[in-house]
Amino acid sequence: MSAAANASTGTLFGVGVGPGDPELLTLKAVRVLAQCPVIAFFRKRSGNANGNAYAAAEPHLPAMRRDLAMIYPVTTEYPVGDARYDEAMTAFYEDQAGLIAAELDAGRNVGVLSEGDPFFYGSFMHVFHRLSPRYPTIVVPGVTGMSACWTAATTPISYGDDVLTIIPGTLDADTICERLRATDAAVFMKLGTNFPKVRAAIARCGLTERAIYVERGAMKHQRVMPLAETADAVAPYFAIVIIPGQGRRL
Ligand SMILES: C[S@@+](CC[C@H](N)C(=O)[O-])C[C@H]1O[C@@H](n2cnc3c(N)ncnc32)[C@H](O)[C@@H]1O
Repeated sequence: MSAAANASTGTLFGVGVGPGDPELLTLKAVRVLAQCPVIAFFRKRSGNANGNAYAAAEPHLPAMRRDLAMIYPVTTEYPVGDARYDEAMTAFYEDQAGLIAAELDAGRNVGVLSEGDPFFYGSFMHVFHRLSPRYPTIVVPGVTGMSACWTAATTPISYGDDVLTIIPGTLDADTICERLRATDAAVFMKLGTNFPKVRAAIARCGLTERAIYVERGAMKHQRVMPLAETADAVAPYFAIVIIPGQGRRL
């Protein structure tokens, strides 16, 4: 998949571990993780948990391994687009890529756990860009969080010619409305504190009745409800709103 390196270096694996249920890892993800003496994963500074990706993968991780926790220096402290966020995160990814490179140089394979799919809004991508030109790299796709959410809601998301649009909740309300007016089906990601704005934009487009809110899809405390029945409160990080398409049913 990428640069062949000196045969003695380890391989960088970006492993999609799915949305949370340990049974939703692929056979390939499980096989690859067993070959990694070093397991790297991103996590928040606050709390004790190693994060959702680690929890999903844990039953499949080799007993003899070293964990490399990559702790985000910031999460929601700065508003979107703030230069201080970009600066802190760029330095962070540089540092973490350096730590992983040291393991690869020592001949050890490193598995970077990625919630859902690594190439779909995944932090792994920032490590990938830095290291794949220099080290053999294999990326294992994963079941996305949004697949888990429309499955939890027991609703197909797109039929026939439906256009499906993925909309980050971080966009401003006017842009959200423009995107909504131009699509047949939609998935809203990154809700959290953006949830009230997303709800209001969906209402402005007259789509509340079709929208479904899913919290922690395929995780322990999964919740599914019509958007119309949610309180106008802050949603957790792992939450999605879906607006299924209404295309031709045959
Ligand atoms: C940075 S993106 C990572 C997406 C991930 N790589 C994937 O393939 O799904 C994080 C956002 O994905 C959504 N998300 C991911 N997994 C989820 C899940 N299991 N349940 C609900 N939302 C999820 C949430 O909107 C969250 O804010």
